[in-house]
Amino acid sequence: MTRPAVLVARAVFGDIVDRLRVHFDVEDNPEDRIFSKAELAAKLAGKAGAFITGSERIDAEVLDANPQLRAVCNMAVGYNNIDVDACNARGVLATNTPDVLTETTADFGFALMMAAARRLAESEHFLRRGEWTKWSYDMFIGSDVHGATLGILGMGRIGQAIARRGALGFGMKVVYHNRSRLAPELEAPLGARYVGKEQLMREADHLVIVVPYSAASHHAVGSAEMALMKPSATLTNVARGGVVDDAALAAALRERRIAAAALDVFEGEPKVHPDLLTVPNVVLTPHIASATVATRRAMAGLAVDNLIAALTGGTPPTPINPQVLAR
Ligand code: DGY
Repeated sequence: MTRPAVLVARAVFGDIVDRLRVHFDVEDNPEDRIFSKAELAAKLAGKAGAFITGSERIDAEVLDANPQLRAVCNMAVGYNNIDVDACNARGVLATNTPDVLTETTADFGFALMMAAARRLAESEHFLRRGEWTKWSYDMFIGSDVHGATLGILGMGRIGQAIARRGALGFGMKVVYHNRSRLAPELEAPLGARYVGKEQLMREADHLVIVVPYSAASHHAVGSAEMALMKPSATLTNVARGGVVDDAALAAALRERRIAAAALDVFEGEPKVHPDLLTVPNVVLTPHIASATVATRRAMAGLAVDNLIAALTGGTPPTPINPQVLAR
């Protein structure tokens, strides 16, 4: 009997890819080449499933070129790279990797927020440039994190994990805005207060953005929102590029309309808006919020579990469009 063929579109832990070889003929990409859309569509020829990351876009065109495709399994919790409606229309299962990265991503979001508040990157660059000649009372003076007001835009799993760190570890007051309000039993232990988006911008000393990207959240934080923020406030984005208007942010930072920012995700990444590269008061990291060995292994393992289950008649643990399974 011929075995189903699958594509592993990016380099990933060899021992985890080997789990796929037990069931499938695997075409992998150990050189980690980034496929153009046409290359991806061509590589998917004859494949029943694909292991992908947030860098591979699965849309109607790619699906129509590969009507045999039955499952696309993302090694990421965010899935704005997958056109889920197009998958639904063609009966293709899509899966993601929720939960396994929540705490690690929250750790990193908190670290970035602290780095912005305490001017970590800016002061380190100054020291490395050999410019440190004396102690002075206001050198790289920043703002406190403990006891400050933490504003969270997007109070899903990661938002709540960041709120827990702030409220329970740092005595922060938590305000948040989300599509829907949390249940009282989730709000109460965090002392979290649900507010409108404008109020969130006004009240936050440290704003952390954790809202998924969609057409509705495109530029959810732009110049109008930044204009409401305190001049002493910081802004951290660990969600997706495009949720923040990066050009507007660079201008706000340069003109000190807000104090500092920290970004792990960018519009059009891996390109970074050139203006962000020239403003000093922003910490920039290359989309690594979930990058610990344990978490990246768990994400890859979950994507593989999903792919194996989807193509062997099992129950994929974390489907995005489970209705496809019922067909
Ligand atoms: C995710 O899981 O969505 C992270 O951004 C890693 O891509």
